[in-house]
Amino acid sequence: MWTLLVFFFLTFQTGSSESSCEVVISPQQSVVKFGDPLTAICNASGSEIEGMGWESTKNGTEFTEGISSLPLKIDKVDVWKIDPMCYANTPDDQCTTVLEVTVYKTPDSVSVSESLDEIGVMREGQPYEIACSILNVAPIRYLSVIWYIGSVSVYEEHFNRSDERPINVSSVLKMTANGSHDGSEIWCTAKLNLQTEGGPPSRESVQHRLTVLYTPVCSEPANETLEIPARGNVTLNCSAKGNPKPSYSWHYPQNMPSTAINGDHSIQTLSFAVPGVYTCTASNSQGTTVKYFTLVEAERDRTTFLVLLGVFLTLGVLIIVGGALFLTSSGRFSFKNCPPGSSSVI
Ligand SMILES: *[C@@H]1O[C@H](CO)[C@@H](O)[C@H](O)[C@H]1NC(C)=O
Ligand SMILES: *[C@@H]1O[C@H](CO)[C@@H](O)[C@H](O)[C@H]1NC(C)=O
Ligand SMILES: *[C@@H]1O[C@H](CO)[C@@H](O)[C@H](O)[C@H]1NC(C)=O
Ligand SMILES: *[C@@H]1O[C@H](CO)[C@@H](O)[C@H](O)[C@H]1NC(C)=O
Ligand SMILES: *[C@@H]1O[C@H](CO)[C@@H](O)[C@H](O)[C@H]1NC(C)=O
Ligand SMILES: *[C@@H]1O[C@H](CO)[C@@H](O)[C@H](O)[C@H]1NC(C)=O
Ligand SMILES: *[C@@H]1O[C@H](CO)[C@@H](O)[C@H](O)[C@H]1NC(C)=O
Ligand SMILES: *[C@@H]1O[C@H](CO)[C@@H](O)[C@H](O)[C@H]1NC(C)=O
Repeated sequence: MWTLLVFFFLTFQTGSSESSCEVVISPQQSVVKFGDPLTAICNASGSEIEGMGWESTKNGTEFTEGISSLPLKIDKVDVWKIDPMCYANTPDDQCTTVLEVTVYKTPDSVSVSESLDEIGVMREGQPYEIACSILNVAPIRYLSVIWYIGSVSVYEEHFNRSDERPINVSSVLKMTANGSHDGSEIWCTAKLNLQTEGGPPSRESVQHRLTVLYTPVCSEPANETLEIPARGNVTLNCSAKGNPKPSYSWHYPQNMPSTAINGDHSIQTLSFAVPGVYTCTASNSQGTTVKYFTLVEAERDRTTFLVLLGVFLTLGVLIIVGGALFLTSSGRFSFKNCPPGSSSVI
């Protein structure tokens, strides 16, 4: 049994060493721009190498005897698929290795489609589809398209297609218009992620400004509660954002004298105010937003009372403590500071 195993092992080892042959291509992979040159070197190792060659649609080399190293030199890679294969022959075997070549081409153009101009002005809450067209790019499987709105990336798309030749593709961004987008720039970028150092840079489309119509939004806080100060003005700030620009209307408590109201449309200054609810309505073609200002009497009456009470209490305590001290010291004065012997002075 053991003999059999050892015999088998020996045979196996002898067999493998007989056809021992290995070809190594350097670099193992190559990324080349369409039209650029490509070079590689193939080394063969093993005993009994008879010779080697390159099989390639461009600048291939015939089988050459008596060598173990052979370069491949292509002046201009002008095909989209090229799989150069290096081979080496031994008397009873052949070993081969294929050089993986990625031929790329950066896009001729990257642009946000005209549909954006057709869309024109957007309305908040409505869905929109905007296309980015990328012309003449290869290979598509390495392409990533990133959409930006106001320098924030909002969507990234990859293309799971095996095309080697350049094609046109389009990435469609599905978005819901939002007031926060109004006035922001939108654009798309296309990049080939070739996993090589300093690969081709990404290419950006022209930026387009978004216009979104939206209902007025009051700046925080949504509602305000303010104290009426003893002196000075009360400012009611109802500034709201909106497109179109909001217009404002105000509603005051009935007993509020209109002569005490000053200010422009979004901000009112009250030189005299009565407690109550002041209502500001900001509206535009898209809708209306209401902000409530609740004005309350400052707690000055109670505060005054408390202050007075505090003063009286303090005074009272001071009087009692002071009186006690005075009594004590005068007691001391009469008994200690006037010893019997010195009473003659008085
Ligand atoms: C391939 O062989 C050449 C010539 O013998 C040598 O200069 C080179 O370093 C070898 N390359 C590799 C990757 O082994
Ligand atoms: C590669 O092949 C082209 C024609 O197929 C030839 O003009 C060129 O000289 C070759 N380059 C090398 C380095 O052999
Ligand atoms: C707009 O975006 C804000 C936050 O970015 C979100 O709270 C709000 O719901 C969005 N409005 C619409 C109509 O989608
Ligand atoms: C790409 O597409 C193939 C076939 O359509 C699918 O099997 C594969 O999972 C896809 N890969 C990715 C990353 O989506
Ligand atoms: C890509 O689009 C351009 C311009 O529309 C066109 O000339 C070209 O033929 C298209 N290429 C492919 C591969 O469809
Ligand atoms: C503002 O006050 C009104 C009336 O009291 C109320 O209906 C509304 O919900 C309040 N809004 C906010 C955001 O608190
Ligand atoms: C109060 O408002 C009125 C009118 O806007 C202004 O003339 C006055 O100077 C303000 N008073 C103070 C204390 O801010
Ligand atoms: C009113 O509020 C807006 C938004 O918070 C702010 O930009 C503006 O300076 C305020 N105006 C006044 C007079 O406080």
